[in-house]
Amino acid sequence: MNKHLHARLKRLSGLTAALSLLTTPASANQQLAADMGCYNCHGSPALKNAPSMARLAEHAAKARGDDEALKKRAEKLRATSALHPIAVHERLSPEAAELLVRWLSEGAK
Ligand code: HEC
Repeated sequence: MNKHLHARLKRLSGLTAALSLLTTPASANQQLAADMGCYNCHGSPALKNAPSMARLAEHAAKARGDDEALKKRAEKLRATSALHPIAVHERLSPEAAELLVRWLSEGAK
């Protein structure tokens, strides 16, 4: 490999590592949401009747800092819905649901 290119690549990967350190832990939750496929439906453009992430965040912001309200929203998210059964919602562990609802309430960033 070309020596200059090698040095540049090395600098770049250092920068990426520094950036990921800076943006943890909020981005870890965004990564979790991405890994779990939340953006498949709530991304932009959002799928059919799914609200966008921004819309979900706006809605969840009402419960920001209120542990009881956040827990209730997390439970509601996991609950089976007869009208709109969503497997990804139902498969969430209580912990993951709470983490994601809390992350949404703080702006989903
Ligand atoms: C298959 C598409 C799909 C996927 C994947 C999906 N959602 Fe949803 N989600 C929806 C739809 C559709 C609604 C609106 C449900 C309704 O109208 O009853 C919704 C509603 C919600 C709501 C509002 C629920 C409420 O009752 O207030 C939250 C919060 C939410 N989703 C979070 C998530 C998170 C977090 C993930 C990732 C773990 C996720 N969703 C993955 C389709 C999806």
